Amino acid sequence: MKKNVTLAILSAAVIGLGPFIVSCDNVTDPAADKIDGAVGIVFPNDYLRWDNDEARFRAALTAAGVEHTILRSADSSVTEATHVANLIESGIKVLVLCPVSSADAASAAEAAHAAGVTVIAYERLITETAAVDYYVSFKSLDVGRMQGQYLIDHATGTGNPLYLYAGNQTDNNSFLFFAGSWSVLQPKIADGTFVIANSQAADGLKESATLTHDQISTIFGTNAISGTPPAMTVDGITTHWSYDDAKTLCERNLSTVNASASLKGSVFVLGPNDYTARGIIAALDGDSAVTSYVITGQDAEKDSVQSIIDGYQSMTVFKDVRTLASDAAAAVIEVLKGKTPATLGSFNNGVKEVPSVISDIVQVTAANVREALIDTGYYSASDFTGL
Ligand code: GAL
Repeated sequence: MKKNVTLAILSAAVIGLGPFIVSCDNVTDPAADKIDGAVGIVFPNDYLRWDNDEARFRAALTAAGVEHTILRSADSSVTEATHVANLIESGIKVLVLCPVSSADAASAAEAAHAAGVTVIAYERLITETAAVDYYVSFKSLDVGRMQGQYLIDHATGTGNPLYLYAGNQTDNNSFLFFAGSWSVLQPKIADGTFVIANSQAADGLKESATLTHDQISTIFGTNAISGTPPAMTVDGITTHWSYDDAKTLCERNLSTVNASASLKGSVFVLGPNDYTARGIIAALDGDSAVTSYVITGQDAEKDSVQSIIDGYQSMTVFKDVRTLASDAAAAVIEVLKGKTPATLGSFNNGVKEVPSVISDIVQVTAANVREALIDTGYYSASDFTGL
């Protein structure tokens, strides 16, 4: 068992609640308080991450008496488009969409708009289209910064092997996470604190303080996992948000760097989220030349929280989906009442400034699991052992 023996740092636990606020436009019209119409909600896949969101959504909409249908897209933009077409056909007034692919979802959003449906992008932005009315998410750049800073705060000396991993080429959030991480890690790569172990593309850009979307895309790579292990120059760092792909990729990276012992020992890993971090940890645990690791995560999934308590995963970024789901449900209800949900800012999707509510995130380590996740009622202490 290789444990992260470094001390956890208690982060400033700030939860920024950014609820949609009832706008003042038509508060005097009693007819406007009547909810009229149904909502369709489409999540990208069956991963655990979305179960929490779904449960919170269902509860909020049921309590408000809103007719709703919740579907999953099996990580397929084609399935997603079919779901959206069926929901439009069924007569929904509002579509809440967490896209499989931020760009490919533009056509589904446009179809919804053409049918007079209000479109809310949920967690992941829908890009390159004017057919998005609202965006509800978290501070994704901060997620990446928090992950990168954690690695920096736990590294000493120089030459620390750094393994970089990312989510998915199609997910706009993946670019924001990576850009955030790079903004803090890059100076520490340039000054030799870290040595990138698994991406020649990233290593080639180590003098660049900021990266363009295309440069990040190049680092992400094509990264087909099946087949012969690709050479390090072309393998890419994306995990497709999949445990299995993350594990396989890390195993291949470890076998590629086998000849160079200096890239093993105590390693530092940018784990993009909890599910993939657990896959990477399985790979790291399978390599006896890796003696310890510091690895990040995201989402505060129960299995990763247990892993943090047990001393394997080092940290996670807690995104309180109670806030996300209630913000989105509040927006849905406002629209169905014929009102305009007030927003707290905007997010550019390449075509327009999308009115947005973007919530803060919280770092969780072994030191503050109880305070951040139990005391806030997100999980119960009985969900875990050894707390
Ligand atoms: C991202 C999301 C993360 C994570 C990931 C995999 O878009 O921001 O929280 O859940 O998808 O599902």
